[in-house]
Amino acid sequence: MRIAVGSDHRGFRLRGKIVELLRSLDQEVLDVGTHSEEHVDYPDIASAVAEKVSRGEVDRGILICGTGLGMCIVANKYPGVRAAPCHDDLTAEMSRRHNDLNVLCLSGDILGDRLVDRLVEIWLNTAFEGGRHARRVEKITSLEQANGEA
Ligand code: RB5
Repeated sequence: MRIAVGSDHRGFRLRGKIVELLRSLDQEVLDVGTHSEEHVDYPDIASAVAEKVSRGEVDRGILICGTGLGMCIVANKYPGVRAAPCHDDLTAEMSRRHNDLNVLCLSGDILGDRLVDRLVEIWLNTAFEGGRHARRVEKITSLEQANGEA
């Protein structure tokens, strides 16, 4: 899978670990930074990743900021992007099975490294169930088109 990964300064350390994990799992990683702890604005990073997902240049994205919330708000402005913060096994699994989540948002402040490894692996390996959930995701897409996001 081709995965774009980005963080602001608050997710910088965790992003490095996630990039390493993804590469060890033979995923193709597009690392958009940030590449130091110097402060950056999370909307700039979230846009870089979400735009690639929206245009189909990558299959999925992962975004990390202090809480995971700011990244999520920005990413969902892009058509076709379904982003949400996941913080435990259940949200990571259900975000894929029911919501076909294509941008995983994580908190660099709250989550421990081992938990993050688990969440990323669950999220990578869980398939979308389709069926009635596909109908619901299609409704999200229709709302997006009707409201002319981004
Ligand atoms: C940056 O200070 C912080 O606001 C950001 O990392 C994130 O938590 C925003 O939602």
